[in-house]
Amino acid sequence: MLTAAAGRGRPEPGMAPPEETRARLELAGQSHLLRFWPQLAPAERDALLAALALLEGELGAHCRRAAEARARETGALERLDGRLEPVPAEFLGSVRSSEPATLAQWEAEGFRQISQNKVAVLLLAGGQGTRLGVAYPKGMYSVGLPSGKTLYQIQAERIRKVEQLAGEKYSTTCTIPWYIMTSEFTLGPTEKFFLEHNYFNLDKTNVIMFEQRMLPAVTFDGKAILEQKGKVAMAPDGNGGLYRALVDNKILDDMERRGIQYIHVYCVDNILVKMADPVFIGFCVSKGADCGAKVVEKACPSEPVGVVCRVDGVYQVVEYSELSVEIAQMRSPDGRLVYRAGSICNHFFTRSFLETVAQKYEPQLKQHVAIKKVPYVDEEGNLVKPLKPNGIKLEKFVFDVFQFSKNFVAFEVLREEEFSPLKNADDASTDTPTTARRSLLAQHYRWALKAGARFLDENGSRLPEKPNLSGTEDPPAVCEISPLVSYFGEGLETQMKNKDFYSPFILDESKTEMLEDARMKKK
Ligand code: UTP
Repeated sequence: MLTAAAGRGRPEPGMAPPEETRARLELAGQSHLLRFWPQLAPAERDALLAALALLEGELGAHCRRAAEARARETGALERLDGRLEPVPAEFLGSVRSSEPATLAQWEAEGFRQISQNKVAVLLLAGGQGTRLGVAYPKGMYSVGLPSGKTLYQIQAERIRKVEQLAGEKYSTTCTIPWYIMTSEFTLGPTEKFFLEHNYFNLDKTNVIMFEQRMLPAVTFDGKAILEQKGKVAMAPDGNGGLYRALVDNKILDDMERRGIQYIHVYCVDNILVKMADPVFIGFCVSKGADCGAKVVEKACPSEPVGVVCRVDGVYQVVEYSELSVEIAQMRSPDGRLVYRAGSICNHFFTRSFLETVAQKYEPQLKQHVAIKKVPYVDEEGNLVKPLKPNGIKLEKFVFDVFQFSKNFVAFEVLREEEFSPLKNADDASTDTPTTARRSLLAQHYRWALKAGARFLDENGSRLPEKPNLSGTEDPPAVCEISPLVSYFGEGLETQMKNKDFYSPFILDESKTEMLEDARMKKK
């Protein structure tokens, strides 16, 4: 990264901007960034100069690239028909179609690797979460569970539980380090939140936060945007910024020091994520994979999710818009979609694969164009919140490294058990706090029924049972199970078999907590 030349040309009040900076911006076609210079306070000038110095030499090229990339993307879409193949069966594992004994073998292998301290989890948490629309990092969001737990707390507890299960199985004490990639927007509040919650009882030294880089947002005609008179609008460089951030922050060295060999990378917003999933880790390790992707079966041909497949023999995630209707609708003899492997941003990497990508291939990663509404100051210096998208953000994607894998595998899991992302606020129809909460409570209800629990309403009458409840329905009884009690539905019989539970209730690690609900108050 280019560094700021600290203090160079620091202006006196009323002084013109340093000639060198002015000339450089002029050359890059970005001299408008100094438009409000005469109105800036000394501290604002310092901050602007420092920000510009960090971008030194790259600003003009970046702005040009952004405008060109957008122009290319608004041209005709390239259809990939004829160059596509689905993931071959021998490289595609599946929870649904594997024998229980095979799944158990993979799980045992995953637990073995965890018990030997070879597995880490890596959370991508640098996004701005603009669609959800809250002013704090998405991981701090609570979707309204009876316990009030946030996404971060749920994830922390899953780590603790899976460490415990692996330790018990192989009679060791083990650790799964938690790497958290943040950005300028999310680092401060995330650190504070973890501190305030005592790192959710994880050892602080095993929670490693680091920051990804930021890039200027650019207008459609290639100008960097001022979001304040003295501040360039910046945005994180996409979740594929991971690979540069790993090097910038010496994270791969840290992994090596700890003896980590396998890394499970995931997104902050999937409430059902199985962190360090032993079955997935065991599957990937057993296949000798250097890179793997969890996928879910696409719900229907028109579902707008990326599909993991091969293009000219090379693995990649193909966007929904790049598939023709005919290709998207193709079915195999068993009636399932041929291109059904929906990407859920849930990946396995070996450390050595990450090292190779970071050192060798990162510059080759495609820069994708995201068109966003970027607040800006107009020529008079008024802040404008645009109603239509006005800015380009360039982003790299974490999955664009599949093409460099020497042994890629995909693993199909059940959507209702493993995937329910929180993307939008509750006024949307999909991927909202309500749908996320419903998916989790439906899952816990199914686990409880399977373990032999019985549910009663507030009058003590038995509630009807729905053992095959889907993740999109509200369960007949509200039952939340702490990840500290059960990671994936295991071990619940001792506490639940043939027992009656009043809805709603929380099963946590110390007790079965009856909520002081209407029933109790009535008495
Ligand atoms: P999304 O693409 O859903 O973006 O990120 P987002 O920022 O969460 O939400 P919107 O689009 O602004 O509404 C998928 C995952 O990638 C992470 C996010 O934090 C999320 O876990 N991400 C995204 C990063 O870590 N860095 C980025 O620059 C972008």
